[in-house]
Amino acid sequence: MASIDTDLLHFGDDRSQDRGAINTPVYRASLFSFKTYQDFLAARLEGTNSFVYSRVSNPTRATLEAKIAHLERADHAIAFSSGMAAISTSLISLLKHGDHLLVAMCCYGPTRQVCDTLLKNMGVEVEYFDSDESPDLSHRIKSNTRVIYLESPGTLTFQIQDLRAVARLARENNIYTIIDNTWATPIYQQPITLGIDVVVHTGTKYFGGHSDVVAGLLACNSELYRRIQPFAEVLGAALSPDDAYLLTRGLRTLGVRLAQQSKNALKLAQWLKSRPEVRFVYHPDMPDFPSYDLAHSQMRGSSGLFAFSLHQPAPLEAQYALVNALNYFSIGVSWGGYESLILPVGESYRDVPVVRKSMGIEDEMYRVSVGLEDIDDLIEDMEKGFAARAEALSSHEVSLTGVDL
Ligand SMILES: Cc1ncc(COP(=O)(O)O)c(C=O)c1O
Repeated sequence: MASIDTDLLHFGDDRSQDRGAINTPVYRASLFSFKTYQDFLAARLEGTNSFVYSRVSNPTRATLEAKIAHLERADHAIAFSSGMAAISTSLISLLKHGDHLLVAMCCYGPTRQVCDTLLKNMGVEVEYFDSDESPDLSHRIKSNTRVIYLESPGTLTFQIQDLRAVARLARENNIYTIIDNTWATPIYQQPITLGIDVVVHTGTKYFGGHSDVVAGLLACNSELYRRIQPFAEVLGAALSPDDAYLLTRGLRTLGVRLAQQSKNALKLAQWLKSRPEVRFVYHPDMPDFPSYDLAHSQMRGSSGLFAFSLHQPAPLEAQYALVNALNYFSIGVSWGGYESLILPVGESYRDVPVVRKSMGIEDEMYRVSVGLEDIDDLIEDMEKGFAARAEALSSHEVSLTGVDL
């Protein structure tokens, strides 16, 4: 088998088609036509192996799906119009009324929303667990437990679940496992090789890599594909050929982008750790990270998204001053693009204290997505942010003194 970097470039490209075009073209066709009715019937019998109607299958999307399946060491992949479409389709396909679902508490907020609304309305019993419980979840398993949903690392405080242990327990109890593998990407973590059944991604992050596409992916074995694909087809959130093209293009440079972003993120994390204001750096590759050993036992590297908290939380206006002073870190949601981003996340889950506590969210905390800029420029930028925070803090103290007087 070729190395993953070579596969990112070449796997799944059939250059004997399309007059030798080096990239699979954008097949902007809602349907495919046939010379004879017999050919049409034969194509329909082949299902997703042939092209009849683009909600079901499309050549541009098929190239992307072949690449993702291979990278995730799965038999099949399905490309969706968003990460949430991949996540909700996987859950809806594998759960029914009366089933019990276990979900990692650190999952992405809208995933939690799907569980607490859509799935509960369907009659699914939803229960959350802390990542620390993942080495032995047996006390949570019931006779009707059908799915365990993981997100490792989580994307706020980067909690890690023990994938091998969860997969082993699930298999012993005929339970399906699903993981959101967006943070690590298959370059750093291949959950199917650790026994997990279904991998989901938002392709909006590192796969696309240029903050210009919203997409989702799902990868699994043939048995589960036969269960999930018909739901994907009728729920209808298929990725458009144009966006499938962008994702395939993004994948070709995923290896070099991630290597640079990973290096930049670690350097920034180390610099932050040396700052007196910083209390903790939440980065799975820092030796004092609580699940460092577990992370290293199941991942080959770390991507560019991490968080840090500060001693003595500053009032919100000083926190805003820090992020407002930055030139290269834009303020915005999402992550995984070429550009650096920052968000103050200390106010997250104030309304759901059990999640806030489980995720260890602190009052002054920032999440950064480190991009491809020169790391010295990023550090200099962050220095400006700390200076602006200090200035805002001192003027806040002056104004408080004024109030006291
Ligand atoms: C970890 C994670 N999973 C899933 C999603 C949802 O992806 P999308 O926005 O493509 O629907 C996101 C989006 O930010 C995410 O961060």
